[in-house]
Amino acid sequence: MNNEKRSNFTGKIGFVLAAAGSAVGLGNLWRFPYLAAKYGGGIFLLVYILLAVSFGFALMTAEIAIGRKTGLSAIGAFKALNKKYSFIGYVAALIPAIILPYYSVIGGWVTKYLYAFISGGAKAAADDAYFGGFISQTAQPVLWFVIFLGATALIVLGGVEKGVEKVSKLMMPVLVVLSIFIAIYSVCMPGAIEGVKYYIMPDFSKFSVTTVLAAMGQLFYSMSLAMGIMITYGSYMKKDVNLESSVTQIELFDTGIAFLAGLMIIPAVFVFSGGTPEALGKGPSLMFVTLPKVFESMAGGTYIGILFFLLVLFAALTSSISLMETVVSILCDKLKIGRKLSCLLVFVFSVVLGLLSSLGYGVWAEVKIIGLQFLDFFDFISNSVLMPVVAFFTCVFVGYVIKPEAISEEVELSGKFRRKALFNVVIKYIAPVCIVLILISSVLEAFGVFKI
Ligand code: PHE
Repeated sequence: MNNEKRSNFTGKIGFVLAAAGSAVGLGNLWRFPYLAAKYGGGIFLLVYILLAVSFGFALMTAEIAIGRKTGLSAIGAFKALNKKYSFIGYVAALIPAIILPYYSVIGGWVTKYLYAFISGGAKAAADDAYFGGFISQTAQPVLWFVIFLGATALIVLGGVEKGVEKVSKLMMPVLVVLSIFIAIYSVCMPGAIEGVKYYIMPDFSKFSVTTVLAAMGQLFYSMSLAMGIMITYGSYMKKDVNLESSVTQIELFDTGIAFLAGLMIIPAVFVFSGGTPEALGKGPSLMFVTLPKVFESMAGGTYIGILFFLLVLFAALTSSISLMETVVSILCDKLKIGRKLSCLLVFVFSVVLGLLSSLGYGVWAEVKIIGLQFLDFFDFISNSVLMPVVAFFTCVFVGYVIKPEAISEEVELSGKFRRKALFNVVIKYIAPVCIVLILISSVLEAFGVFKI
């Protein structure tokens, strides 16, 4: 184990902020609100929170503990604990490599919107055709994608302490303050109260299995679970930092920001589009298409818009940093190459793969894989197939191979493990069963058997 070679986070705050920086991203600010809007508001929120405190808690604890125990990133970590299971590490390592390119494409869109708002294009951005017109071009989206990816690479090149930690320490508190400010603004708009009710009060008649499945998929994505990321972060964590309370704080952070994002966006949908099913079911375009309209009709909306897209950009950057850091550190460990070369390789690979996603909305719009555009395809393969597979095997590995005690021991190095009983039950029984359900449903969905 090459613990000496790895740089460490300097303390608990550094660790929590950096891990929360990975967790909080486009998943919270862009994906969570549109899913919550679509799947019945309050009931989705309730299911999500219940899953976060059981399922999310268990998986995150397991991953961070595995990383800290071995001092290695995903591939090495599983191998060190049991050779036969090193395949989990390989599959896990594949996921951030698939996500990073298309995540950076979306990060590029966000950067472009920020630029548009700063350069006086707020009014134009509020036009219905603006978003579609932008993403279907060739050079523009590619340019913004490469800018976003390049910024990520530069930060990762700085190393864990100098790069990730410094950036996270600066960005995360700003993110919280900006989120609270915009959420308050949004909730105080006349007519917003209906939206607040829809979002906060669970309507049990809207409950269905698909609500649970959608919430669970979102949980993986949002908390950066099941892809080796939290293992890598755990490998940088010092032994005397309290693991359980760190997990609690990361979860609170992640869920808190997602909740605030819903509060910024859902009431606004009610105010400006009347909360109709069509408006609420808008899906992925919700943030890019609806919000500029919202900002435009507010006094001082250009400034709110600048703040908002800056916030989203910060969140997306800290997430893409963690994606890239994971891939870079695995390459360093595996190929025994330096950080610089490793960064360069990941950058070039991501440009190539990201080009497919970017051009998939423009010149290659006709190219489809199992009926999906490139970006949707990469998203599907990573989130709906590989992540449930990794999560399932992680649970089996922890529950039945190394046994939950191996995790408890690691957790107890730095304090009492208060939710040990919960952890054991979830990791051995509840989580594996639920994950198999998600996997089956997402595969059936892909082949058009039923629609989530
Ligand atoms: N968790 C991040 C978010 O919510 C996204 C992400 C996914 C980050 C996968 C790293 C890995 O946006």
